[in-house]
Amino acid sequence: KPMNFEQIVPSMPFILQGIWVTLQIVIIAGILGFILGIILSLFKIGRIKVLRWIADAYTSIFRGTPLVLQLMIIYFASPQLFGIQIEPYTAAILAFGLNSAAYISEIIRAGILAVDKGQQEAAMALGVPYNKMMKDVILPQAMKNILPALMNEFITLTKESAIVTVIGVTDIMRRSYIVGSDTFSFLEPLLFAGLIYYVMVLVLTVAGKWVEGRMRRSD
Ligand code: ARG
Repeated sequence: KPMNFEQIVPSMPFILQGIWVTLQIVIIAGILGFILGIILSLFKIGRIKVLRWIADAYTSIFRGTPLVLQLMIIYFASPQLFGIQIEPYTAAILAFGLNSAAYISEIIRAGILAVDKGQQEAAMALGVPYNKMMKDVILPQAMKNILPALMNEFITLTKESAIVTVIGVTDIMRRSYIVGSDTFSFLEPLLFAGLIYYVMVLVLTVAGKWVEGRMRRSD
């Protein structure tokens, strides 16, 4: 049957409200992933062997299994894992935050290692303590490599967030699916959802280009 976008016009606000749900998950998971990612990256570049091993194993496991599996374990097995059934929304933030931390820790580790070795040698020769050297010498320079890659991770999270629909979070994806099953016509609402994701990714891409430009100018 021919496409008919008119019939989903009344449902558009319902689908559009999912933007906020999707954004909340991506933003909170992004922050969680960033904080945990920093900690893991410091473990990875640090001198304590057991912490290095823990951080490497963490990354290996979270990158080596499907995100949708991690999401379903955290949501459906939460009574066994935590003793309580957690909300789909909470499970989504946890799964995406924990997963993203694995990727972000690699981004930060690589960004730090890309800073010229001479910078560390100079700081140490000047007697700058390790923590202060990290904070004031290495990290500001590492930011140039890290920020653009972080924007990419944000874009990935935004698109991947669509899988939270499998645990019943009413994000953009699930809302468009609901409208499809209510109207017995899936193409229009799903294409509308696609348009929303595409615009969100375009906005993030433009923001990423802007960040990259600023980083280059400050060189
Ligand atoms: N679809 C892939 C998976 O399920 C990609 C996960 C990407 N995650 C990320 N935080 N960049 O494993």
